[in-house]
Amino acid sequence: MCGIIGYTGEEEAVELLLNGLKALEYRGYDSAGIALSKGSEIIVEKSQGKISQLERKIEGENKDLSSHCGIGHTRWATHGKPNDINSHPHATENLALVHNGIIENYAELKKFLEKNEHYTFESETDTEVAAKLIDCFYRVTRDPFRAIAEALKLLRGSWAFGVIFKDDPGVIYATRKDSPLICALDEKGNFIASDIPAVLKRTNRYYTLEEGEIALVCADKVKIFDMDKRPVKKEIKEADWDVEAAEKGNYPHFMLKEIFEQPTVIRKTVSPRVKDGLPQLGIPKLTDETLKRFKRLIIVGCGTAMHAGMVGKTVIEKLARIPVQVEIASEFRYSDPILEENDLIIVISQSGETADTLAALRLAKEKGCKTMAVVNVVGSSIAREADFVFYTWAGPEIAVASTKAYTVQICAMYLLTLRLCLIHNSLPLVQVKKLTEELLDKMPVLVQETIDRSGEIRKIANRFRSVEDLFFIGRGIDYSLSMEGSLKLKEISYVHSEAYAAGELKHGTISLITQGVPVISVATWDSCYEKMISNVKEVRARGASVIMLCKKGAAAADDVSDFIIDFPECSEMFMPMLAVPSMQLFAYHMAVFRGCDVDKPRNLAKSVTVE
Ligand code: G6P
Repeated sequence: MCGIIGYTGEEEAVELLLNGLKALEYRGYDSAGIALSKGSEIIVEKSQGKISQLERKIEGENKDLSSHCGIGHTRWATHGKPNDINSHPHATENLALVHNGIIENYAELKKFLEKNEHYTFESETDTEVAAKLIDCFYRVTRDPFRAIAEALKLLRGSWAFGVIFKDDPGVIYATRKDSPLICALDEKGNFIASDIPAVLKRTNRYYTLEEGEIALVCADKVKIFDMDKRPVKKEIKEADWDVEAAEKGNYPHFMLKEIFEQPTVIRKTVSPRVKDGLPQLGIPKLTDETLKRFKRLIIVGCGTAMHAGMVGKTVIEKLARIPVQVEIASEFRYSDPILEENDLIIVISQSGETADTLAALRLAKEKGCKTMAVVNVVGSSIAREADFVFYTWAGPEIAVASTKAYTVQICAMYLLTLRLCLIHNSLPLVQVKKLTEELLDKMPVLVQETIDRSGEIRKIANRFRSVEDLFFIGRGIDYSLSMEGSLKLKEISYVHSEAYAAGELKHGTISLITQGVPVISVATWDSCYEKMISNVKEVRARGASVIMLCKKGAAAADDVSDFIIDFPECSEMFMPMLAVPSMQLFAYHMAVFRGCDVDKPRNLAKSVTVE
């Protein structure tokens, strides 16, 4: 989704802004632009397409763009097509502004502003309305801070704004609501950014802005105020991500690098939570007594995070015997859910900024429920607002398609399950210990073995590289895994694919299975294995080309499949840790064969900060 960068300091701003934008490319975008303070002027350069297009445009114009202060933006179109005019920054006579988020009442504000002789609108965006509204107050107050504060009172929706004013060169004004924004501190100047990787090459020290705060970012200091211009004291945070973690290294794509990082991030996430061989969640304020009080868990998330929740549901219900519901955040938030005092709402989010997941969390709190977040980005909005936080330690995930973040999210689900088993006495202590040890010691090794077979999976992908439709089938937990495998494939290779509960196929969809149609059959769950084999036979009888994902030596697999991806022996509950990376690799190789932009698939965004 859209990205923001801003810099003010002793260095040339253009290069820093363009580099910052490149570091934000992963969020997904379709146009880019910058605005620079130059004396009492503001120069705006923007272009549809990639940042390289903007760079070519800038080079072609051969203008003097030397400046020490500016803002930049990558736009992911919501209101109006991706074109030069709709791109940010949006400028007026007095200011230039970049915006992430959506101004919901833009139409009504536009009508109001159109009555003013100073304003006609050239773009289709909601952002131009915000720029002109601030401008309108600035004409009256001649005070940038007050102009912004007054405009904010009239806006509805979500925003992170970076604004520069002609009359106040060298200062970037920044504010936010429901969309992340940080002020990062460097020796040679200061930054604003929507995301830490944008500044990681220069600094890892930053302030997070809260709602209702306005920052004045100057070359030598950052001052943060509340809306009444009272200074706010803030703590400097330090990101423990290093630059290499946010770079590709020798891998052709971030996605492949992140798939291969899985054994490491599993260890990082699990090992601090195992004490004396037993699972310890180590979540401040979440004692066993508190955890025991919850009679039902409701897991909420979007996309891959929600799929991790589905694995959580299966294992928690099976082993800890506590009822679990899994909800899609965008549905949950408008469903007027019936929530009880003894429900624990668990939100899962890699970024910690997904708008729908954040809204679901807020709804649960409003209804008086306790909330727990499983989040990867430290200090993100969801992490700040949840009652209890379980941080996954996956490091920065740059590829849009989530891989390593999923794997550590399911590790969080496993640790929670095992702790619940202890608290509720639903499994003997020795068994909990055995499973915990397996997760800690054995699983990273087995995940490594599985991803080392990337070459074999590549060969299978090569065989199917030209297909246009593909089906995934599975039962129980394998159905959840099928959904994740199917999502990965769609996201990055653009192959149409569907995931079906294997037993449901014959109620309609089997009509689509004809000669040569590929069906990936996920069959890792023992209790359903035989039923799965029957379902696989059904599709095979109709000509399907079957790729079987199962345990090594699974009887009957040979007879019913054309290709087998098999996994070493481990406890059933951990099978998702082997099956999903195999499907990630399948999707990856398919996308590469089909010439797709693996890390930045069309239309998608890494962090979805709008509804
Ligand atoms: C986007 C990403 C997905 C991700 C989902 C939820 O759609 O493209 O990869 O699973 O958002 O993101 P979150 O940051 O909340 O886990």
